[in-house]
Amino acid sequence: MGKLDKSRTIFICQQCSKESLKWLGRCPNCQQWNSFVETTLPGVASPKASTIENPPQELAQVVTDAADRFSLPLAEFNRVLGGGLVAGSLVLISGDPGIGKSTLLLQVSALVAQTQGKVIYVSGEETLHQTKLRAERLGIKGEGLYLLAETDLDVILAQIEQLQPRLVVVDSIQAVYLSELEAAPGSVTQVRGSALRLMQQAKLSAVPILIAGHVTKDGSIAGPRVLEHIVDVVLYLEGESFNAYRLLRGVKNRFGSTNEVGVFEMQERGLVEVANPSQAFLSQRQGETIGSAVVSTLEGTRPLLAEIQALTTYTSFGLPRRTANGIDFNRLLLITAVLTKRLGIKLAGQDIITNVTGGLKIGEPAADLGIALAITSSFRDAGVDPGLVAVGEVGLSGELRAVSQLERRVAEAARLGFKRCLVPKVGARISPAPKDIELIPVSSLREAVRVGLVGRKAKAG
Ligand SMILES: Nc1ncnc2c1ncn2[C@@H]1O[C@H](COP(=O)(O)OP(=O)(O)O)[C@@H](O)[C@H]1O
Ligand SMILES: [Mg+2]
Ligand SMILES: [Zn+2]
Repeated sequence: MGKLDKSRTIFICQQCSKESLKWLGRCPNCQQWNSFVETTLPGVASPKASTIENPPQELAQVVTDAADRFSLPLAEFNRVLGGGLVAGSLVLISGDPGIGKSTLLLQVSALVAQTQGKVIYVSGEETLHQTKLRAERLGIKGEGLYLLAETDLDVILAQIEQLQPRLVVVDSIQAVYLSELEAAPGSVTQVRGSALRLMQQAKLSAVPILIAGHVTKDGSIAGPRVLEHIVDVVLYLEGESFNAYRLLRGVKNRFGSTNEVGVFEMQERGLVEVANPSQAFLSQRQGETIGSAVVSTLEGTRPLLAEIQALTTYTSFGLPRRTANGIDFNRLLLITAVLTKRLGIKLAGQDIITNVTGGLKIGEPAADLGIALAITSSFRDAGVDPGLVAVGEVGLSGELRAVSQLERRVAEAARLGFKRCLVPKVGARISPAPKDIELIPVSSLREAVRVGLVGRKAKAG
């Protein structure tokens, strides 16, 4: 063992891991209040003997093996991982409490146990009994799946060594601790120290390790973001608690693309893959299309159709209100301003509520045109053409700007049976021309509204 020089005390933000020599009430980096925790840093250790046991290898002699990635019988999960779990990788699944991380991890554990061999599932938050009840609800019998209710990481590592599993799951990283570190479980020091130790274990044993990390509201518990630079792969599990759809999004991947999303639905029996998300997101669409427009949005490289709804009502008193569910609030303000100023639509005295059905969050400006159509449609009480999908970014002069990957968006619209697609005239050329769907290039929002709205009232007001 190396000799330690003298340790020192500093303060670390538990949200973003900014360091400070004195305590601060508010983090200057991430603006979190009361997030600084006094931390004793261990001194610098001299190199360990193990570095000598791990000599450098000549690049030409290093073998890569296709089998060092195993795919799971869960296509949406494989997709996000870029084909499957890589041997020796440390994968973080991050998300709000209650979003479904433990559910997903238990399901994945059972699938790996069935197809690959022994799995150890470390539950630091729930008892064996609670985990068993969950497994029963999910229809998991659990042959080859070993549960361990433990938080001491040294004990956990010893059990892993003993069992020699094909996969390790640690739920959650905030619940486990290293007794050698003088810091509270859940602190940045513990969470990072534990993750580093698990990383080492994964690399030495070539066994993949999945860890769950809760996004925390409490400033003094370390959030999973402090781990993102340590682990190999970061996945976010996202969704609205009142809505059943869950998106699993790759945000970092040392072994593949990060532009992938998987779509699941939370059911009684756990997370079920949604093979056709566009259809699912549009499934509740009524025949009525007043205040409703369909957009083709990209989640990574995956096109998804989504319905945007808008409701405009006369402001009875005070300032008009703007509510943006699932879309960016500032985009809504911009689009409202353009509709008012460039198209003369009198929205100044109107409350405007917008919503994306299915609980999807759309961050990209390509949805602008759909939002504008839905608002105008509600205001004029005129339906949007039901066979139409709208794609386009709105500029401040009311012009429509090109969007990326138009071809994929249009293809998805055609696949779902839509007949027409409003697209920005700039960059509207697709060759070969898409089949079964007509492209309608428009250069301005004004023109798009004229084409997109149907019925007698479409041109009024
Ligand atoms: N009996 C049940 N029937 C259906 N869904 C349930 C049931 N119990 C829990 N759930 C779902 O599982 C979710 C909890 O998921 P969990 O995997 O524990 O989340 P996390 O680990 O991310 O905190 C709940 O929010 C709920 O949606
Ligand atoms: Mg959990
Ligand atoms: Zn901070």
